[in-house]
Amino acid sequence: MSNSILIKNGTLVTMDERDAVTDGSLLIRDGRIAAVCASDSEADVVIDAAGCAVLPGFVQSHIHLCQTLFRGSADDLALIDWLKKRVWPMEAAHTHESLRASARLGVAELIKGGTTCALTMETVNHTEAVFRVVEESGFRATVGKCMMDRGEEVPAALHEETEASIRESLALLEAWHGRASGRIRYCFAPRFAISCTRGLLERVARLAVERGVMIHTHASENRTEIEIVERETGQRNVVYLDELGLTGAHVLLAHCVHLDDVEIEVLSRTGTHVAHCPSSNLKLGSGLARVALMLERGVSVSFGADGAPCNNRLDMWTEMRTAALLQKALGGAEALPARQALRLATMGGARALGLDTEIGSLETGKRADVSIVKLDQLHSAPRPAEIVSALVYSTQSSDVQTVIIDGQIVMRDRQLLTLDENQVIAEANREAALLMSRAGI
Ligand code: GUN
Ligand code: ZN
Repeated sequence: MSNSILIKNGTLVTMDERDAVTDGSLLIRDGRIAAVCASDSEADVVIDAAGCAVLPGFVQSHIHLCQTLFRGSADDLALIDWLKKRVWPMEAAHTHESLRASARLGVAELIKGGTTCALTMETVNHTEAVFRVVEESGFRATVGKCMMDRGEEVPAALHEETEASIRESLALLEAWHGRASGRIRYCFAPRFAISCTRGLLERVARLAVERGVMIHTHASENRTEIEIVERETGQRNVVYLDELGLTGAHVLLAHCVHLDDVEIEVLSRTGTHVAHCPSSNLKLGSGLARVALMLERGVSVSFGADGAPCNNRLDMWTEMRTAALLQKALGGAEALPARQALRLATMGGARALGLDTEIGSLETGKRADVSIVKLDQLHSAPRPAEIVSALVYSTQSSDVQTVIIDGQIVMRDRQLLTLDENQVIAEANREAALLMSRAGI
């Protein structure tokens, strides 16, 4: 790893408290940001960012690296059928090798699009493979083994006994939380209320507090899902989770499309975070989350692409733009303005993952997770007067030139340095074909 990197001649989009956007240099030393608007000092590596924006890496708060191999194999279905007919049988067919290929494909795509950190809910088995890919690729991630101790039409390979699920989660936590200088973290990941017993959820709530790790689950994504929870528990989903202890500043709920006003108040009062997944909510026909209203009521919101089979991209540019456009359709053109959308994609994600003192903005002392993005393309010309607007509404994933994570250059001039792109694609093709035949798809 180069000890020092100087990024010169770019426009720094800092996402600091003042939202400062300024021309200048960024100095990185020993994995951290050493100076913003640095004088042009000596450095081991100098990167010329003329014509580019320099921004904090995106933080996606909800993805599934295990599902990247399923891209294009589960289209045009609503959530429960999508899970039962396609996603669960494919997850059940994973081996260590196929999961490794799936995670490598996902991480490569994320880095190429300027995402430097993500929270990923994995499948029930082989989670170790994902941790290894994160470790080797230089990516930053919070990873959780999926927990499923009940449910109908769940393939045998995904069904776990409560104790076994907890034992394996704790073993992974012990082995991986805090590894790679803190780049890798663990979270408990019960799949959603209808895949878990009340007993499992209560245990997870207690263990997460005892061990100081996050809880991540899906909540209130789909109408049928919340009807099942109401039938089984007599409660609204978020009220049920709150009663079991699955709310708070260490809890991150994915989707939250179908919430009533009481549930929004619960999230706001408890500091529970929401991962908004606009493309997934559209593709699965789940509905439109009331994000502008949640923000107005003080709920912490961030963005995630969700898994490849419900998007089919893992691209924060798409999520940011789609989120902003959807809120305008719901609440008028002034809803979710560009500056706020960019904030949710950076600091919002960092806050959701409990990492806001470490990443999410370009500020001295923070970990150096940075992307350099071209602004002189056909689709961004003429030279934007408002850079933040250009980033949210015009920029595309392929405009990302260079990506740095924890001070390591992981992509330079669109060339991945920690993963071999051709090999990643070849492995994905081979392992996806084998997996589909094991799954009978
Ligand atoms: N709810 C329970 N499991 C899943 C999943 O894998 N993806 C999505 N989008 N929602 C879920
Ligand atoms: Zn999901």
